This record gives sequence, structure tokens and C-alpha cells, in this order.
Amino acid sequence: MTFQGDDYLLAGEAPVKEPARQAYYIAKLRRHARAFEEEHGRKPFGCVRTFGCQMNARDSEKFAGILREGGFILTEEAEADVVLMNTCTVRENAANRVFGRLGQLTGLKKKRPWMVVGICGCLAQEDGIADEIRTHYRVVNLVFGTHNLYKFAEYLDKCLSEHARVIEIEGDSKTIMEELPNERKYRFKAGVNIMFGCDNFCTYCIVPHVRGREKSRRPEDILDEVRRLAADGVTEVMLLGQNVNSYGKGLEEPITFAQLLRQVCEVEGIRRVRFMTSHPKDLSDELIQAMAECPKVCRQLHLPLQSGSSSLLKRMNRHYTKESYLALVERIRAAIPDISLSTDIIVGFPGETEEDFEETMDVVRRVRYDSAFTFLYSRRSGTPAADFPDQVSKEAAQPRFDRLLALVQEIAAEKNAARVGTVEEALVEEADAEREGYVTGRLSGNTMVHFPGDPAMIGTIVPVHLTESKGFYYMGEVASC
Ligand code: SAH
Ligand code: SF4
Ligand code: F3S
Repeated sequence: MTFQGDDYLLAGEAPVKEPARQAYYIAKLRRHARAFEEEHGRKPFGCVRTFGCQMNARDSEKFAGILREGGFILTEEAEADVVLMNTCTVRENAANRVFGRLGQLTGLKKKRPWMVVGICGCLAQEDGIADEIRTHYRVVNLVFGTHNLYKFAEYLDKCLSEHARVIEIEGDSKTIMEELPNERKYRFKAGVNIMFGCDNFCTYCIVPHVRGREKSRRPEDILDEVRRLAADGVTEVMLLGQNVNSYGKGLEEPITFAQLLRQVCEVEGIRRVRFMTSHPKDLSDELIQAMAECPKVCRQLHLPLQSGSSSLLKRMNRHYTKESYLALVERIRAAIPDISLSTDIIVGFPGETEEDFEETMDVVRRVRYDSAFTFLYSRRSGTPAADFPDQVSKEAAQPRFDRLLALVQEIAAEKNAARVGTVEEALVEEADAEREGYVTGRLSGNTMVHFPGDPAMIGTIVPVHLTESKGFYYMGEVASC
């Protein structure tokens, strides 16, 4: 937009309706940016730091897009005039990392006193955190939560116009606001939100408390976004939600996730479709069939186990048993034999005995995951499990964690080794950071492969001969067709 356009837009009051209201505030940010440039002889720098999951990463693309359209140059934290930390609180160490960074930002702010330090995301939304920041972290002058994140431009304008400290946390609402600027990290692949929040209330998990109730986006809006992305050169999309298998609940026109997946696959130009996360309790045979029948759906499924003990699964409120999980895996493998399976496992959940833990090891041995994320249980205040009386000590949990990790790594290495010698398609994502003259690609099953290549190949899908397994990734070379 031109400066004259901004003057016209800003001559009136801020519109009440979205997204026009945020467009108005983005124009105001551009006005701040011009004033800053006149004073400092350079454009203002902005930085968004992301902690947490893919959904947070997707939100960060919006914040970065707002900063860029607001006249900021996107840069690193060390030189930024506005730093926004998009936080996670799923485990205690995720939250601690954020508070650790604030110490370093205090030093930077001494050098640039006009700096805006903002905190948003799941940690900011957690009960009591905004107040803690208000009283103990003076370096922070902007705080907002997950339910009002679409108002970032408005809040930042308030900080800059009034030199005010802005702390705004809102309760859950039904609003879905996706029409915001977007600074995509990759030009050829993109995450697309299909739903927000979570209704499952696993007893260890804080996500439903900070992300609110489950809300599905309308399929037309999702498909429009995918079509726009395809027109913009995107070939791989990742459909995002905390539990994509329950997509569609509460929409006027009923639709299942399997139906949505088929429709996304029909979008011309899209060559690969992934999704996460799948809750085992809601994974339907209809979805398995859709995955088996649609060649664009990547041969990868993330199916969090959490624990192999049926009694712990009950106390976790997961609504499946060891046996039903194993039966589900069998059905998936029967329909899609070449599927890569990955999982999440928690070690040391309250009440976990050696026998419970052995059940988890047993499932890992039987399923033979291609990869797994393993976590030590972290007590999150406000969740039911935090008050369970039989908390497991770190001394008991750590050796179990180490044994599990060793098993997971051993199996993953064996499974990767078994594919050496085959040719698979890889989407080339970037120049290899460590090897001159190499590029890095992602296989359908989600494993990375490094092979000799030119950066001009980035964004294309090429057949790669997997020549060597390095445990978690491959070395390869382009196969001649
Ligand atoms: N919605 C996804 C998971 C989101 S959180 C699902 O249900 O699969 C990602 C992972 O973090 C979870 O799968 C779980 O393994 C882990 N996690 C969540 N809360 C945790 C806690 N309190 N302690 C340790 N790990 C936790
Ligand atoms: Fe958390 Fe369970 Fe919801 Fe996943 S499904 S986000 S683990 S409550
Ligand atoms: Fe963390 Fe929030 Fe995602 S707590 S895992 S960033 S939904």
C-alpha cells in the first residue's frame, strides 16, 4: 500500500469489524515505522521467536507477516527494536526457557530503551502468568494470549502510540480469524490450520486450558487457503490441529476429517499432504481408507501412544487401551504397508510402576516406530495429574527414560537401514547447512536425506537413491529416471 493509501485509511476511525480493523492498525504501524526511520536513519527491525509446536509456528508466521506489512525489517533478536516471543507451556522446561531469555533481553533493552519486548502464546495465556510478568518482569511491555492473538497489530500500535505497557488476556471465544498477513518460512510448503483448541483433557496436559475449546474451520475456508497456496507455488501442505481426527464437530454442514483430506488432495498443484496430530481414539477406518487411496497423502502417521499400560492410559484419560492401540496399528499397516509411524511417549506419569513401563517398552518393540518423541512427565499446575498423590521421582523416571530412548533409537536405526538401496521421492527443502554442494530433502515418510545437488533444486520433488543410513537421516544421490 502507498503512503497516500495509508493517509486515506487512517483519516477515519478504526473500523469495528475484522479484518478491516487490523488492516487499519497495520497502516498505523507503517506510520510508526516511517517516523522511526526519520529519527534513526534506518527502518525498524522486528523479530518473532517461536517456542512449541507447529501450531505456534503457524501463528508466528502471522506475527512476522504483520511486522513486515507494518514496515519492519525481520531480523535476529540481538538487533531488533520489537521482539515478540511466542511461547509454549506444555512442559516446565519450555516455560523456563522463555523466562531465561528475558534476562538477556533486559541487557539488550539497556542499549535500546525504546525496545518493545512482547510475550504471547500458550505461556502468556496460562493462569497467573500475565500477573507474574506484570510484577516481576518489567522488561516486558506487551503481553497477549492465544484467544486474542489476531489483535497483535492493534496492541503493538498502542505500545508505540501511547508508550504504554499493554497486557491483554482474553477468555475463550468462538472467533476464528485467519485473514492476516502471512510471512511463510518456505515458499513451497505450508502449514494450514484446520481446527483450534482441544476438548480431550488428557489429565497431564495443559493445552486445553490455554488453547480453549475445540473449533473447526469451515471446509470452504480451508480449501480456499490451500488453493491460494497452490497458486503461490506451494506443493506440500500440513493440515494442523491438536486432534485432526475429530475435525468437523460443531460445523453446520457435517464433514469428517477423511472427507476433508480427500478434498484437499484434489487441489491442483498440491503434490503432498501431511497432517498432525492424530488421536488414536478418533482414528477412523474411513481415514485409513482415504490415506490408502490418495497417493498425495504422505506415507507418515504420527500416532501418540503416551503409555503402553492400559491402566495408566485410563488415568491419563486417553480412551484407548494397549490392545486397541495395537489393533489400530495393525489395521493401518494392513491398509498402508509402507507407512512410517511416529509417536509421543511420556515416562514417569504419576503412578507409573516398573510393570507399567515394561508395557510401554513392549508396545515400542511390537510397533517398531520409525521415530518417537520421548518426554519425562512434567507437572503442569491446573491439570488433574498435578494433584495425583503418587508422583514418580526423577530418580525412578530417568533410568526408564534412558532405556526407552535407547530402544527407540535402536529400532529407528534398524528401520532406516532397511530402506538403504531403494529410490524414494524427496522434496528438496534447503541447501545442506553442513556440506558444500549438497541439498537436503524430505522423504514422504518424513525422514531427511542429504545428497549432492544445486540450490536451484529447492522446492522440487526428485527421486533419490538412498545410499547410506546415518541412523536418523540418509545420504543419497539423485536417481536417474
Ligand atoms: N495433541 C497432541 C499432542 C500435543 S502436546 C496429541 O494429543 O497427541 C505434544 C506432546 O507433549 C504430547 O503428545 C505428550 O506426549 C507431551 N506432553 C503433553 N503434556 C505433557 C506433560 N505434562 N509432561 C510431559 N509431556 C507432555
Ligand atoms: Fe493435550 Fe490430550 Fe489435547 Fe493432545 S489430545 S492436546 S495431549 S489434551
Ligand atoms: Fe506448546 Fe501451546 Fe503447542 S503449549 S505444544 S505451543 S499448543
